[in-house]
Amino acid sequence: MVTTGLLLFGLFGVILSHTTHPGRTCPEVTPFPNLTLDKVLGSWYVTHQFDTDNTCVRWTLSQSEQPDHLNLLENRKKTSLLNIFGYNHPNTVSADIEILNSTVPAKGRIDWSNSPSGKADFIIFDTDYESYMAVFECNIAGFVHRRSVIILAKAPILDDIYLKRVQRLLTNMEIPYDELDTISHSACN
Ligand SMILES: *[C@@H]1O[C@H](CO)[C@@H](O)[C@H](O)[C@H]1NC(C)=O
Ligand SMILES: *[C@@H]1O[C@H](CO)[C@@H](O)[C@H](O)[C@H]1NC(C)=O
Repeated sequence: MVTTGLLLFGLFGVILSHTTHPGRTCPEVTPFPNLTLDKVLGSWYVTHQFDTDNTCVRWTLSQSEQPDHLNLLENRKKTSLLNIFGYNHPNTVSADIEILNSTVPAKGRIDWSNSPSGKADFIIFDTDYESYMAVFECNIAGFVHRRSVIILAKAPILDDIYLKRVQRLLTNMEIPYDELDTISHSACN
């Protein structure tokens, strides 16, 4: 039943960083209780994401000038498509995250500046603040919805303990993670 972006668009070499599922309902993901947003601000290595072949992906989260908003900057090294044409330079994308209800700070809506598909739910569902953080994104488009799981770490390689923990949480929430890919940070500037 699960149609992955990879299967649909693999012929064209486009990697979508999400999976596509039938139905207009995103899975229930519990936001991390009483998240202290200040403690997740700063720079993270993105070590895992659904359906990606990017490398060297970093996120920097910062307070926005707008109350109840965060800024997100994503830096990445390349996509394979660009590689074909010999471009291999860093690539920066920004996003605005709005926290809709301040009593649930782990749940927001993200608006990627380069996304044609509109805003997505942005739910921080696990973190220990010091080593790792796990994020679920979901948006509805027509008769399908798109999911992505992003795992971030303070070190370039995520400790297996945290990966197993996040996988267990995803299993409990009945969210398949076969498409969870590792993002290499071994050949970055
Ligand atoms: C979250 O904070 C509220 C209010 O301070 C408190 O009542 C509640 O028990 C906390 N929940 C957890 C899971 O820590
Ligand atoms: C914010 O979330 C809390 C806890 O889920 C809920 O009780 C409250 O009604 C929400 N407020 C708004 C304005 O949606």
